[in-house]
Amino acid sequence: MSKILSAVAWPYANGPRHLGHVAGFGVPSDVFSRYMRMAGHDVLMVSGSDEHGTPILVLADKEGVTPQELVDTNHAIIARELADLGCSYDLYTRTTTANHYAVAQELFRQVHANGYMIEQTTRGAISPSTGRTLPDRYIEGTCPICGYAEARGDQCDNCGNQLEPTDLIAPKSRINGETPEFIETQHFFLDLPALADALREWLSGREASGTWRPNVIKFSLNILDDIRPRAMTRDIDWGIPVPLEGWEDQPAKRLYVWFDAVVGYLSASIEWARRTGDDERWRDWWVEGAVPEEQLSYYFMGKDNITFHSQIWPAELLAYAGRGAKGGEPGTYGVLNLPTEVVSSEYLTMEGKQFSSSRGHVIGIREVLERYGPDPIRYFICAAGPENQDSNFTWAEFVQRNNSELVAGWGNLVNRTGAMIAKSFGEIPQPGALEPVDEAVRAATLQAFDTVGDLLARQRIKSAVGEAMRAVGEVNKYVTDTEPFKLKGDDERERLATVLHTLIQCVSDLNTILAPFLPHAANRVHAFIGGEGEFIPMPVVEDVHGLDDDADRTYPVITGSYGSTPRWESRPVTVGAPIAKPTGVFVKLDESVVEEELERLRES
Ligand code: MF3
Ligand code: ZN
Repeated sequence: MSKILSAVAWPYANGPRHLGHVAGFGVPSDVFSRYMRMAGHDVLMVSGSDEHGTPILVLADKEGVTPQELVDTNHAIIARELADLGCSYDLYTRTTTANHYAVAQELFRQVHANGYMIEQTTRGAISPSTGRTLPDRYIEGTCPICGYAEARGDQCDNCGNQLEPTDLIAPKSRINGETPEFIETQHFFLDLPALADALREWLSGREASGTWRPNVIKFSLNILDDIRPRAMTRDIDWGIPVPLEGWEDQPAKRLYVWFDAVVGYLSASIEWARRTGDDERWRDWWVEGAVPEEQLSYYFMGKDNITFHSQIWPAELLAYAGRGAKGGEPGTYGVLNLPTEVVSSEYLTMEGKQFSSSRGHVIGIREVLERYGPDPIRYFICAAGPENQDSNFTWAEFVQRNNSELVAGWGNLVNRTGAMIAKSFGEIPQPGALEPVDEAVRAATLQAFDTVGDLLARQRIKSAVGEAMRAVGEVNKYVTDTEPFKLKGDDERERLATVLHTLIQCVSDLNTILAPFLPHAANRVHAFIGGEGEFIPMPVVEDVHGLDDDADRTYPVITGSYGSTPRWESRPVTVGAPIAKPTGVFVKLDESVVEEELERLRES
């Protein structure tokens, strides 16, 4: 049993999330975490809303609300969506808590004390017409590296390189098109060159493990070749104050949103421990050597986040521990573990085009949940999501997979098994001696525990769900081969009992195997086959109080008690358990859904 930190990318609290977001970080992390709990590991799954940064500030201005009001609204919406999708966070919190501020500041202070924050005079952009600071992301120009015309002042979305606004060729403001003016301003830069050797050593070890997705390790090694100091403070008045004398009280200097967001994994773990009443428990996952068990951490995200998880965050951790070229001491938290796996997916498009909330080419999580429920969408993401290459969501494929794989494949197997048993016995029958065909199907189903489990442990979710559905296919074939619906004679009654018992045992096992992917359906199937209580636990949204200076504030978090998670193993069905005819596990979608959804897209 290992300590597994499941660290899920923090969604920006600038609006509801869409399908593309949850395909990258949401569903894959939940499938993995649920499996690891089933396999007996001690999983801590954390995330929260990323509430700082210029887009939030700009949007709040536009909507005439304070940034805090804006993120309060959006955090509540996002938490609800993710919980309804079934994402089983131990804690989904937010970055505007006093606890998070304190943890982010502790990291900054120690990184600075160890000499890895270098103060530099730089050139910052202002808008000549308003005199206000022009945020990096709101400057657009041509990328000096790849020539992409719409690169932003912080990053080029085409080649993925980090940029400074002054790098851009022909910069202009995305707000009003004017050419920004650059003025002198003081900032702290993370001394990445002083951490490059340590980063390379860590990454080489990760490369040697051979477990990272090829694109991710390649990209991560590449960006080490052109490593430069990177600004970790910003001219902005929304964010965490810089915890140094002379800086703390400056209203327009704040920590860079990415400096604080990645610290969220640690602060959320600390908040979780404090809420369980055992303040130090987070250390089991985080502090090097704190427990005898293996400590492993898995970070889930979309590919535009790789730099921050395979370079900036590990660099912050190394600098905090004093493990760069300049030496230093670990801060009060001790030496913290670097990521084991950076699990990044590629991009999802919809009907061949990029998701775009502003252009209305989007489908929100709330809408899909209301129309189709969580599991069909989870299934699509697992089976056809952007795991190793960009992939495309189409309504036609969504309907087709729902109808042929969930309804006609798995749902039909559950339904006819339940219906035949209800009709012939009304309860799970006692089997007679097994024939080779029965033994073969049992063996195939048991084998799937190993095959699917092994793939899930390696985050090969697409192959894993494919193998699980292949096992479903074998059991459907067993029904065709044994034709239990034709076993009607009195002298065939024992054979019928054996086949139906074999069948419901296979259904029970397949339900366990499919539970990480389809947890809501798993609970329904569990009830159909005579099981009691909830099979696999679901997250809950709870209102909590802040833990420090913010104790008078309440906010929703996602949490849950996952201690009753079923084990990843076959459990014998109970002979004599009453079985009623199941009512559809999945809903068949009419073909007209495709046209309806495409029409909605055209209208928006
Ligand atoms: N908010 C960022 C995004 O949506 C992700 C932040 S991940 C974190 O792209 F680790 F930094 F929190
Ligand atoms: Zn570029």
